[in-house]
Amino acid sequence: GPTLEDLDPVRFIGNRSSGRMGFAIAAEASRRGAQVTIVAGPTTVEPPRVAELVKVRSAAEMHQAVIARADRSDVVVMAAAVADYTPAERAPHKVHKEDDTLTLVLKRTPDILGELGRRRLASGRGPLLVGFGAETEHVEEQGAAKRQRKQVDLIVANDVARSDAGFDVETNAVTIVGEGGSETLPLLPKSQVAAEILDRVEKLLVQNAARAEANR
Ligand code: C5P
Repeated sequence: GPTLEDLDPVRFIGNRSSGRMGFAIAAEASRRGAQVTIVAGPTTVEPPRVAELVKVRSAAEMHQAVIARADRSDVVVMAAAVADYTPAERAPHKVHKEDDTLTLVLKRTPDILGELGRRRLASGRGPLLVGFGAETEHVEEQGAAKRQRKQVDLIVANDVARSDAGFDVETNAVTIVGEGGSETLPLLPKSQVAAEILDRVEKLLVQNAARAEANR
């Protein structure tokens, strides 16, 4: 889902992510027998029942919760719409209106997935990584570039310019970008998109296990 970045005790910056895609993946992984931890931002949609549910609010809290668990995980799927910027300072009291315009100063949040990719590259070990990319054009190219930039195994790129896919709807139209190229799936319910993603994750886990065995 989203993260919410507080400006003062009553206001925040957020986004329209519902959490549906992440919850669908968690539900499907759990159904397939995985031990699942959900790290969720504030969502109105009910999360599925899984082994562990960690509720967070901000990008900073999500960063902490994910990093603390990543080393104990086989797979990390980052479906959250993490805020890219957060207020540089949180006002301790409600900000009252004064002038006609108000300037907010924002600072970058930690790139959680990017950090997991960098750590894995540096240490040579770590969980399989799946990221999402919300794009409005050149979905495939952007997805492939993001996969390289973040050093992850799969990028699920979705066209958020469509009204029937992406944020806050039950269906999604995605292109899955992996090492060997990309596959564009038709418009599907998010539960089926989750199954398609996890089919590819399972294949990669089997491949990686075989590679590790061969290198022993
Ligand atoms: O860089 P960009 O935001 O386009 O990448 C999207 C992917 O990175 C998603 O999987 C999202 O969950 C993840 N992300 C993150 N930390 C951020 C921003 C995005 O892990 N601060």
